[in-house]
Amino acid sequence: MHMQPTVSIVGAGPAGFALAAELESQGRSVLLYSHPTHLRHANHVKRNGHLATSGLMEGATNLRVTTDMGEAVAFSRVMILTVPSTGQETVLQELRNFSLQQHAIIAVPGNLFSLIADLEVGCVFETNLSPYSCRMDEGGLMVLGKKELVSIAALHQDLDPAVYETVASIFPTQLKWCSSVIEVCLSNVNGVFHPLMMLMNAGRIENTSGDFFIYSAGLTTSVANAMLAIDRVRIKIGEALGLRLKSAVEISNECYGQGFTDFVDLAQNSPPHNKLKAPTNLDNRNITEDVPDLLVSWHCLAEKLGVDATPIKAVITLAEMATGVNYFETGRNLRRLHLEHVSRAELIERFGCVQDKVVTSSGVGCRL
Ligand SMILES: NC(=O)c1ccc[n+]([C@@H]2O[C@H](COP(=O)([O-])OP(=O)(O)OC[C@H]3O[C@@H](n4cnc5c(N)ncnc54)[C@H](OP(=O)(O)O)[C@@H]3O)[C@@H](O)[C@H]2O)c1
Repeated sequence: MHMQPTVSIVGAGPAGFALAAELESQGRSVLLYSHPTHLRHANHVKRNGHLATSGLMEGATNLRVTTDMGEAVAFSRVMILTVPSTGQETVLQELRNFSLQQHAIIAVPGNLFSLIADLEVGCVFETNLSPYSCRMDEGGLMVLGKKELVSIAALHQDLDPAVYETVASIFPTQLKWCSSVIEVCLSNVNGVFHPLMMLMNAGRIENTSGDFFIYSAGLTTSVANAMLAIDRVRIKIGEALGLRLKSAVEISNECYGQGFTDFVDLAQNSPPHNKLKAPTNLDNRNITEDVPDLLVSWHCLAEKLGVDATPIKAVITLAEMATGVNYFETGRNLRRLHLEHVSRAELIERFGCVQDKVVTSSGVGCRL
C-alpha cells in the first residue's frame, strides 16, 4: 500500500480537532469529517473562521471540514477515527458505502472497533487511548494534557512493514506496539478509572452538578480499593491470553511520563487529572462509553477464558441499576464482537501471546 502524507480525520470533537491541529502544524494536509447530525463543534469553528487552541497547544489553525464521507475517503488513504466508540456504528454505516481496500483505518481509541468493523478495508489499527486530554467550548480548543505513549495494534499482524512505519510516522506520539487488538483494549485503563469513579461519586455528582474535582476529591481510598479489584481481573484476563499487562497506574504513568505509586497518589498529584471537574450527571461517556464498550467486552472475554470477573460484573450491574440501561445487552458482548462461536483455544491463538507469533520489523509481538 502506497501511503500519502494526507490524513482524513473522522470525528469532529475535541480529540479530532486536537489531532487535526497537531498534524497540520507538522505539515500534514488534513481533512476533518463531521457527521452531519453531530456538527456542534464544527459549526462553532466555521463561525470563528479558524480553530483557536490554548493550553498545551497555543495558536490558530485553518482546517478543512466536510460532512461528505466520500470526500474524506477520496482525500486520504489514511483515515483516523476520533468518534467515541458509541459513535463507531454510525460511522461504519457511512463507510460501508465505499471501497476501502487501499485504505488504513486507525480507530483512536478502538475499544475493539476492528472486531465490529465489517468492512472490506486494507488494514485496521486501533489504539487504547486518545493522545490528548482536551475540551472544546464555543469552537475554542483547550489542550490540558498529551500522552507520551499510546498502545496500538493491527487486527491482522501480517502487514507490509511499510504500513507500520507509515502509521508510526503519522501518529503524533510514541507508539507501543501490542501483540493484538485485545491487548490494546485491555490497555484502555479508562475502564478501570471511569465507571467506578462515577458510580461511587454518583450522589455528589448529582447533588452538585459535578462541581468538584472528580480525581482529587473523588478518587479516595475506598474508590481506589474497588478500582484495584477491577484492575486485578483485567490483568488476569491478560494472563489467560499469555500477556503480562502492567497495572492501570503503571500504564497511566507510562502515558504521561509520571511515577505515581498508587491511584490516590495519581489522583492527588497528576496535573492532567487533579483539576478535572466531574461531569454534570451520569449520562456521560465515563459510563455510556466505558461500561458497554470496555467493561462488557472485558467481562465477556473473562467468561470465555474462564477468569472470575465478579468485580467487573458488579460494576456493570450497578451501572445498569443506576441508569436503567441493559449494558450487557447493548454493549460489546461476544455476539457483537463476532466471538460468540470462537472457542477458548481459538481466542488464545488469535489474540494471545504465543512465542512463535509473527514479529514485524517495527517490533510488534510478544514480550514474554
Ligand atoms: N477529549 C478527551 O480529553 C479525551 C481523552 C481521552 C480519550 N478520549 C476519547 O476520544 C474519543 C473522542 O473524544 P472527544 O472528546 O472528541 O469526543 P466527543 O466530542 O464526545 O465526540 C467526538 C465527535 O464524534 C461525534 N459523535 C458522537 N456520537 C456520534 C455518533 N453516534 N455518530 C457520529 N458522530 C458522533 C461527536 O458529536 P457530538 O458533539 O454531537 O456528540 C463529536 O463531533 C472518545 O472515545 C473519548 O473517550 C477523549
